[in-house]
Amino acid sequence: EDGIDTDDTANGIRIFDPAYLNTAAISSKITFIDGDKGFLMHRGYPIEQLAEKSDFLETAYLLIYGDLPAKQQYDLWKYEVMHHTFLADDLTKLIGSMRYDSHPMSVFISAFAAMGAFAPEANPALQGRNLYINNKDIMNKNIIRILGKAATVAAFSMRVRMNRPFISPRADLGYAENMLYMMDSMSEGENYKPDARLARALEILFILHADHEMNCSTSTMTHVGSSLVDPYSAVAASAAALYGPLHGGANEAVIRMIEKIGSVENVPKFLADVKEKKELLFGFGHRVYKNTDPRSKIIKEVSETVFEACGREPLIEVAIALKDAALADPWFVEKKLYPNVDYWSGLIYKAMGFPLDFYPILFAVPRVAGWLAHWKQALDTSGAKIWRPRQVYVGEKLRDYIPMEQRA
Ligand code: ACO
Repeated sequence: EDGIDTDDTANGIRIFDPAYLNTAAISSKITFIDGDKGFLMHRGYPIEQLAEKSDFLETAYLLIYGDLPAKQQYDLWKYEVMHHTFLADDLTKLIGSMRYDSHPMSVFISAFAAMGAFAPEANPALQGRNLYINNKDIMNKNIIRILGKAATVAAFSMRVRMNRPFISPRADLGYAENMLYMMDSMSEGENYKPDARLARALEILFILHADHEMNCSTSTMTHVGSSLVDPYSAVAASAAALYGPLHGGANEAVIRMIEKIGSVENVPKFLADVKEKKELLFGFGHRVYKNTDPRSKIIKEVSETVFEACGREPLIEVAIALKDAALADPWFVEKKLYPNVDYWSGLIYKAMGFPLDFYPILFAVPRVAGWLAHWKQALDTSGAKIWRPRQVYVGEKLRDYIPMEQRA
């Protein structure tokens, strides 16, 4: 009788799909995952071939522009990205003002949010709302700047925690190699170059992390980008989405979990706790993969190279025992829980000497490529269509305001 029907689904179809378990919000040409077979390809190329033959910047180009670059295109692309690695001086000061014990992801998120303030020409609020729909030059310029600066922000976040001066990027190095160069304490020596085996290992890890279709952070990029906000702010939002332990924070959580388990003898007790839902087995399970994550197989091989260079990480024995025990246990088999990419990546980062809280950064930097690819695809295809899911309202019916003194 008040004319307000809180069941506003009554007159039409609305799909109720909490956590988007079954909702496809885009059509995409970028990445395909067959979760049952454990298969992943980018723009038609299987991840195994890219990991073996490509480098991160080439894979980033492929993701963003749709095809492998010809030699000249690649050279120009690499030149441009590697010459956009420098940060504005004031941004450097801002990063330098962060506490030494800040989580590097907090630094990363803040730096990208601030970067927008240093790029008014990239801001649709100032330049016109359809800036990135109408002007592909400015879109490409900002793609290059964001990709170039991501590694520098990451390296500087490490230097902040080391309380050491920042080291300028070097455009003549590979993408991952330059990042290692900028963050390593040894690189203060003039002729220092990171170990080639480690640089290639990190480059492969970057290829493996570059995109994974509509994961939490990439869908955030598409969602936030649909409001036509500047891409720096959208990257900051996506990095925040990635930071959580159920997503990019899982690699850090895996090592904390394995450290807590401590030794092979404690594995059965830990798995019993997982089955009683007292613990989560971090690095296991995936929304899409119901079979082995193909990236985890490649990573396992990379780990052997890294152990050769840096020494075998002792926690690997616990990790292997835990994985074997889980895969032999019907509880995990029935739930189709397999190791995902984060299960092994943390062990590699640990062997390479990265501090625990730096691991999510090593996921975020390459994922910037996937974010940008999806941001571009969305603006190129659906233009200015804002994302706005609906809800099913289950709250109170209409009622009158009660003055405070009359409330029970
Ligand atoms: N440990 C223990 N139980 C698990 C795990 C796990 N890692 N993953 C799933 N389960 C259980 C759930 O409790 C649930 O059990 P139920 O049927 O008794 O309720 C069942 O398996 C199904 O799992 P969901 O949580 O419904 O699966 P969902 O698709 O929502 O979650 C996720 C996927 C978040 C990755 C989940 O598997 C998880 O929390 N894993 C651990 C964190 C992790 O490794 N994240 C990295 C993901 S990959 C990435 O971002 C690169």
